[in-house]
Amino acid sequence: MPQEPLHPAYAARRFTAEYEQAMDARYAVTRNEADTVLDPAALAKAAEGAQVLFVSLTEEVTAELIAHLVPSLQVIATLSVGVEHIDLEAARRFGVKVLNTPDVLSEATAEVAMMLMLNACRRAHESDCLVRSGQWTGWAPRQMLGLGLKGRRLGILGLGRIGKEVARRAAPFGLQLHYHNRRPLPAEAAQGAIYHTTSDDLLRHSDIFCITAPSTPELKGFLDARRIALLPTDAVVVNVARGDMVDDEALITALQSGRLFGAGLDVYRGEPNLDPRYGTLPNVFLLPHIGSATFDTRNAMGFVLLQGLAAIEAGERPANQVV
Ligand code: DGY
Repeated sequence: MPQEPLHPAYAARRFTAEYEQAMDARYAVTRNEADTVLDPAALAKAAEGAQVLFVSLTEEVTAELIAHLVPSLQVIATLSVGVEHIDLEAARRFGVKVLNTPDVLSEATAEVAMMLMLNACRRAHESDCLVRSGQWTGWAPRQMLGLGLKGRRLGILGLGRIGKEVARRAAPFGLQLHYHNRRPLPAEAAQGAIYHTTSDDLLRHSDIFCITAPSTPELKGFLDARRIALLPTDAVVVNVARGDMVDDEALITALQSGRLFGAGLDVYRGEPNLDPRYGTLPNVFLLPHIGSATFDTRNAMGFVLLQGLAAIEAGERPANQVV
């Protein structure tokens, strides 16, 4: 039986082997073999004629790019839950659908939030450096004293999919849960976390302040000097959401002065070019945006996009269709 020709697609990054294989079985894929980050102009040229554009959070999908790729472009599938790199309004205007990857990365990201919390509270970076430097003179009663998690108040900004997974993992450590969302959640979903009607109030009650809310225009620069001043002395800041929600100048000043005990960061403004002062601070534990970086999670993210595409082709609206 003659087979239908596969739809042309462009893959802007190299993805996991399993995802690429499944993608190739369904689409005639041209891919950016070099796996470099393409700017919109380069992407416009490379993806000409594609009906599906496979991107990730590193590609800026501008209105100009979308305008250039229509009418052939029908779907943008981003390997991320965050969609702030895509001009959604332009996609809507041009009738291009956008798919993302909610849910499947929440647990992996929550694990990283716990890793950041533990490492920042227990001074993992300094401890690791001490051992590697050869300067460690042996166990000492006052050495590398840090903060235990038990009994501390964890403030979660954004008790959504990722925030709830963080809460689920934090409770067995003995952390008391607090959160702020625009609206309180039903009791079961809140997992016993105490609701604060304002983010200011949450900050006042957060020995550890964890950002899990999606980046929106209103939250840009959220954690500024005024808000940091509301945190209890010796608080710890954890960010697994987006770097642009933090005012770097204010956070670095508070970490340098000792106003904050420490921070654990997976995301940065202007990635990968983070403020170089972070790298000089002993009380900060830094990760290179690896929240979703497990084999299974990155595969699941890819498969959820392919399932979404199949649903669209079948005339349905999948749950992960943002536009
Ligand atoms: C996302 O999906 O938006 C994460 O930041 C990367 O996995």
